[in-house]
Amino acid sequence: MISDEFKALFDRAPDAESFTPGRVNLIGEHVDYNGGRVLPTALSLGVDLAIAPRDDCLVRIHSDKFEGLVERNLSEPASDHWSDYIIGTVQLARAEGFAPNGLDIAASTTLPFGAGISSSAAVTVGVLKALRALDGSGHTDTDLAVLARRVENDYIGMPCGIMDQMAVAIARPGQALSLDTDSLAFDLVDLPETHHMAVIHSGVFRQLNEGRYKIRKEECDEVKAFIGRTDICRMSDAELERCRALPEPIFRRARHCVTEHRRTVAAADALAAKRMQRFGALMNQSHISMRDDFEMSVPAVDALVADAQALGATGARLTGGGFGGCIVACVQAEHLEEWRDALLARHPDAFSVA
Ligand code: GLA
Repeated sequence: MISDEFKALFDRAPDAESFTPGRVNLIGEHVDYNGGRVLPTALSLGVDLAIAPRDDCLVRIHSDKFEGLVERNLSEPASDHWSDYIIGTVQLARAEGFAPNGLDIAASTTLPFGAGISSSAAVTVGVLKALRALDGSGHTDTDLAVLARRVENDYIGMPCGIMDQMAVAIARPGQALSLDTDSLAFDLVDLPETHHMAVIHSGVFRQLNEGRYKIRKEECDEVKAFIGRTDICRMSDAELERCRALPEPIFRRARHCVTEHRRTVAAADALAAKRMQRFGALMNQSHISMRDDFEMSVPAVDALVADAQALGATGARLTGGGFGGCIVACVQAEHLEEWRDALLARHPDAFSVA
């Protein structure tokens, strides 16, 4: 239990706790900073946090993933250290008036890092949830997600969209969050019990802030400037055609944004209607668009997706920020084990996450 770990570390009981899940995105990739629709679901894996206030400007952090106790000043800038996510979050919550002047934190996580299943959003949202519990502040889950995104964008320097933070703040296992990333309006759609959304790590680890994510974001910004709207996912066919005037590969980036958004809207409808063949076909199309138009895949992931499909998945695709990490596959529950065993036998570096 996280409260026992906290007591053993800090010699006192915690004052607040939180559990925040990781997420897997079923479809709708790189559209959340372009005004599109996304469809993530929560995993049962996640981050447990326990906290207690301090009054001396210090944040002391222990994570079961790393050695030792980290001690940092609350006002420090980001320093490319894993604890930045926590320092940045406490700083922002303090500026917003619901964090004490220092904190002891114990974290225990079942989420692998660099896998594209939002371990960082689970930490930032988790700290905000624990601070909300401590302070009794009236922030909604959406408020916390918006603040957590600001930590990533402004403190960490990762220009992500809002999907991960909303997903881990709001979604529950067994339900998909059909989220309009422009208005932040959402619906929860039940996942069918006949199918499992399997998450398989390719064995290729990557860090989002290593630059390729940012390059894609900048390419989308070129489209925005050219067409004069920020929600480029919702461009008309005529507007998309105009983007052909942009130099390669920008048109293909624009085409991915438009088609991925439309696929995601269709996929949410298919899921709600339990039309799983249709849902799977849209996942497969999404992978092709990510591979060819958005160029965010890598050969090991393409091979994993191809075998996942060949071995009988209803649909399979790369999930998350890209350039490695996990695939998500929709698999009939009754065939799950033999499908997974066969896939992992063909891909010795891959491993099952969920
Ligand atoms: C990362 C980002 C998200 C989103 C996905 C791609 O997970 O944090 O905001 O852009 O990549 O869909």
